[in-house]
Amino acid sequence: MSQSGQLFDSNCMTLTRFVLASQRQVPGATGDLSQLLSSIQTAVKAIQTAVRKAGIAKLHGISGETNIQGEEVKKLDILSNELFINMLKSSFTTCLLVSEENDNVIEVETEKQGKYIVCFDPLDGSSNIDCLVSIGSIFGIWKKTSNGTPQSSDVLKPGKELVAAGYALYGSATMMVLSLGKGVNGFMYDPSIGEFILTDPNMTIPQRGKIYSINEGYSHLWDPAITEYVRLKKDPNAGKPYGARYVGSMVADVHRTIKYGGIFMYPATSASPKGKLRLLYECIPMAYLVSQAGGMATNGKIPILDIMPENIHQRAPIFLGSKDDVGDIMKIIEKHSK
Ligand code: AHM
Ligand code: MG
Repeated sequence: MSQSGQLFDSNCMTLTRFVLASQRQVPGATGDLSQLLSSIQTAVKAIQTAVRKAGIAKLHGISGETNIQGEEVKKLDILSNELFINMLKSSFTTCLLVSEENDNVIEVETEKQGKYIVCFDPLDGSSNIDCLVSIGSIFGIWKKTSNGTPQSSDVLKPGKELVAAGYALYGSATMMVLSLGKGVNGFMYDPSIGEFILTDPNMTIPQRGKIYSINEGYSHLWDPAITEYVRLKKDPNAGKPYGARYVGSMVADVHRTIKYGGIFMYPATSASPKGKLRLLYECIPMAYLVSQAGGMATNGKIPILDIMPENIHQRAPIFLGSKDDVGDIMKIIEKHSK
């Protein structure tokens, strides 16, 4: 109930309203970014509806296709990908799209082209779909800076040049978390009015947390530095042991890390020397959000946002979260590299 006793606040800050207000603060803004974000919102609303009734609509289950990483593609992945592509193309604001599900860069038809480049993972955490564990969508938005017709190579931009990034978490509620380069704001979906409402303004990550998050099943494949760090987090003689949490959906693990603090890690292993998570549409957008929330994100050597991508499906090791926790692991990695 709002203060006036109504079912909802008649002056609530919706995501659309927030984006429009932010746009007004940028001199010379055309409104293209607002239009683009509105198209992503439409895709997310449709995906969340599909996720919520996945069983009934027979959207779950393996579709029989494999994506370019050789993994099984579920029906929901395909639907989510189509929604992102169709909504973004028809927003008249984008020229090049990169999706986890597509082998190559997608070029928007000339007559629909705009100045933005969007890299996205339409439905991340696909192994969690069938067991109803949280999944999410991730996106990063860049501006095309070169002159002339769009080239595939235009999408290879570092995270520090991002214009905006965000994710949608399809959890016990649906939430969109967004940064336009001035902090991080979270918007909860209110199904009664079909809008995202600002519920988490100015999200900031605690300086230090109490949780470590890593797939410990791979510990036999870790570098000595990672082994030492995780051992210390569990050693009662090295301070109060941390709690362990690992959902296996990056959006859920990162969202918890932003809210509660701590560290999320997907390091390189001897089996995957470059890590698993993809730079352009997983690591970079999440690193941007965590940095905007006052945390840190590194590949163990340099900030994720400084990495110059060389190809669109490139992977990177990642350590992100509270400043002090990421600082701790960096010290251990440095010690081991000497
Ligand atoms: P996906 O893009 O195939 O869904 O894989 C990405 C997911 C991330 O959400 C998560 O952090 C990671 O894979 C979990 O991997 P693992 O099962 O190796 O721990
Ligand atoms: Mg993914």
